[in-house]
Amino acid sequence: MTLTAETNDFSALAASRRSTRAFTDQEIPAEVLDAILADATAAPSWSNTRAFRVALATGERAQRLRERYGRLFDEEIEAHARKAADPDVVVPVPDGDYPVRKRYPDELRPAQIEVAKLLYGIYGVERGDIEGRNRVNRRNVTAFDAPVMGFVFVHEDMLPWSAMDAGLMLQTLFLSAKSRGVDSCPVGILATWRAPVDEEFEVPEGYTFITGFALGYADPDAPINAMRAPRPAIQLLEGK
Ligand SMILES: Cc1cc2nc3c(=O)[nH]c(=O)nc-3n(C[C@H](O)[C@H](O)[C@H](O)COP(=O)(O)O)c2cc1C
Repeated sequence: MTLTAETNDFSALAASRRSTRAFTDQEIPAEVLDAILADATAAPSWSNTRAFRVALATGERAQRLRERYGRLFDEEIEAHARKAADPDVVVPVPDGDYPVRKRYPDELRPAQIEVAKLLYGIYGVERGDIEGRNRVNRRNVTAFDAPVMGFVFVHEDMLPWSAMDAGLMLQTLFLSAKSRGVDSCPVGILATWRAPVDEEFEVPEGYTFITGFALGYADPDAPINAMRAPRPAIQLLEGK
């Protein structure tokens, strides 16, 4: 028998994981979170170095982080607005370890534009509506108000392998979460700023902040959770 997404449990699980951008208030029970983290250890790793670290924020700590990130986001937008009237205004430069907002290579831009159109379309935000875009984008920095905010750090001397290991671990974690009814979203935008995580966690020397993520229970009534990003086939190279 050929296994399809309908008959293969793994295919069905993998297909059902979607980046989730609105969550209910429901907390993830500690034992569920522990089981998800235990499953994530099953990911392969370069020389088994596991050169990544994960920080999890819940409750008051997550709330502090949301407020801190929200302030940074707002300060930058306000500075841009003031600069429009006064060119001497200094817009704060984000202190992240990587340039999160860099321009994508031309061949990759159509995919980015397509997913952005889908996202803003669901929120009813028009192309030129900067305020609307800011309102939607701000939801990223609070990790969409998910009960668990995650932060992933990779050893800079083991790049690119440490980043690869972290990605493999994260997808294992997301699939384990999904199998337990817990939804997720990677939130790379959180890595725009570094100071908030340093204020809340002891990050070892040499570890750079690569991405955040959100974990929680999807809000079934939020239209944004009906978003379905395209899943084009893996591009296989032609043989010579
Ligand atoms: C490393 C990484 C960072 C991401 N950062 C964000 C983010 O900051 N905000 C967001 O809404 N989605 C983010 N995403 C989710 C992608 O937009 C999403 O995975 C893609 O559109 C495919 O959709 P799917 O996950 O629902 O299949 C990120 C994904 C990855 C892998």
